[in-house]
Amino acid sequence: MQENTFVVRPAEHRDETPIADLVVEGFLDKFRPIFGRRMERSTKIMEKWVQMEHALGGVRSLVIEGAAPVEIVASVGVRTGSSDDEALARGIWETLRRNLGFFHASWAASLLSYPRYAASSSEAYIERLVVASEYRRQGVARAMLEAAETVARESGKRTVGLHVSGGNLPALKLYEACGYEEVSRQRSRLTGYFLGIREWLYLQKEL
Ligand SMILES: CC(C)(COP(=O)(O)OP(=O)(O)OC[C@H]1O[C@@H](n2cnc3c(N)ncnc32)[C@H](O)[C@@H]1OP(=O)(O)O)[C@@H](O)C(=O)NCCC(=O)NCCS
Repeated sequence: MQENTFVVRPAEHRDETPIADLVVEGFLDKFRPIFGRRMERSTKIMEKWVQMEHALGGVRSLVIEGAAPVEIVASVGVRTGSSDDEALARGIWETLRRNLGFFHASWAASLLSYPRYAASSSEAYIERLVVASEYRRQGVARAMLEAAETVARESGKRTVGLHVSGGNLPALKLYEACGYEEVSRQRSRLTGYFLGIREWLYLQKEL
């Protein structure tokens, strides 16, 4: 496959399970410590999460298909609309509680609440960008970011923002190569201890 031949399209309802699979696979080092022995439930939880983000969170997802049309090889979420944060938080909590039980859900919810983001009406927020491992280093993420920025521009946003964990070198290199600049850092002892993520960088790009 050659660079820039990827077709990015808006995600549909049928893509929500493959998106969840990709996200769990792409962020295994984050999800494994959170879900532990209940790892098999993580895809179901993530699927619900993506569904709720689409329904309540003002988020649209974009995907790239692989050779088979049912195969999704990359996805990203772009928050451009207004979000019902309370309903979203309640829905996510209920999903975690149903799947993990009260105590494990409380712990998972604390870890999953990082990084914290205060939405702004002039900014689109990019989240859960992931490329299937066998498709990496072919320009797929670059194509996804460009498509996400187009969505942001068409929605009248002036900037795009995102978070990346301080040790995620491939992602840091990607964002630097695509013109994103660091605005601030958030430190967390909790995610440092349990996930090995001591700090989260907030990056931004002017459109
Ligand atoms: C980070 C990630 C999205 C990059 O996807 P990708 O499709 O491989 O990235 P691209 O091929 O579009 O790379 C574009 C540029 O980013 C940089 N880059 C990407 N991966 C890199 C790596 N492993 N090492 C160094 N630089 C890298 C390079 O500058 C690259 O340009 P080049 O190939 O011409 O040198 C992918 O590794 C991934 O899905 N990781 C797991 C999930 C994740 O961490 N997502 C980011 C959350 S913030």
